[in-house]
Amino acid sequence: TAPQDLAGRRILVTAGGTREPLDPVRFIGNRSSGKQGVALARAAADRGGEVTLIVANLDDGVLEPLSPGIAVQHVSTTLELQEATLLAAGTADLIIMAAAVADYRPQTVAAGKIKKETQGDTLELKLVKNPDILHELTGARHDGQVIVGFAAETEPDRDALLALGAAKAARKGVDYLVVNRVGWTETFGKDENVVIVLDATGRNVTEAEGSKSSVADRILDVVR
Ligand code: PMT
Repeated sequence: TAPQDLAGRRILVTAGGTREPLDPVRFIGNRSSGKQGVALARAAADRGGEVTLIVANLDDGVLEPLSPGIAVQHVSTTLELQEATLLAAGTADLIIMAAAVADYRPQTVAAGKIKKETQGDTLELKLVKNPDILHELTGARHDGQVIVGFAAETEPDRDALLALGAAKAARKGVDYLVVNRVGWTETFGKDENVVIVLDATGRNVTEAEGSKSSVADRILDVVR
């Protein structure tokens, strides 16, 4: 059994990827499976934490088997994730935003299926910016609350990746930022991950590589 070093801590984790509908049959989404976020929730519950897990569009089977100590809420769009997260954040001691959030959503959602017969050879979509949930969370942070963001980046150069991470940590106002390289074949849906954890000043505090559950434990060791 794991050390109960998170006993008495209320932990909020988000996982998966938001989807933004275009019409009743289509959406704009991303390739997050939810595995890393769910692994964080499981590790936190195993270590005695009282865990709320908000999930968006997980891959099949990612949630099973579910630890009894985890309260799960399901959402789909960014606005739904925003509402659920801001509500749950009020009582959380530690918040970890592992969900992959759509930065933009279609300005209008068609009531019926968009038909190519009524469109020309090109179809233009107008997107509007979504709220930055993480930025809102850090703006409303209460005393003693620790807020952890993730940064999914495709930058191949390590120094440039770290610089992007440091800038994002400052911009979002987080206590820690988990820098996660992603790509066509990296990270999304995989059982393994490689991350670098930065503190609020952009300093590299730890690096972890291995199964998403071992990476989750390493992240919790630092941010708890
Ligand atoms: O789910 P897996 O297949 O296991 O893959 C894991 C992962 C790659 C999805 C995960 O480890 C990860 O990196 N999640 C964050 C993805 C993301 O949205 O990164 P970002 O750099 O676009 O956003 C930075 C941070 O701001 C994130 O904590 C994100 O949750 C948050 N955000 C982003 C946009 C927005 N509008 N609101 C937000 O809160």
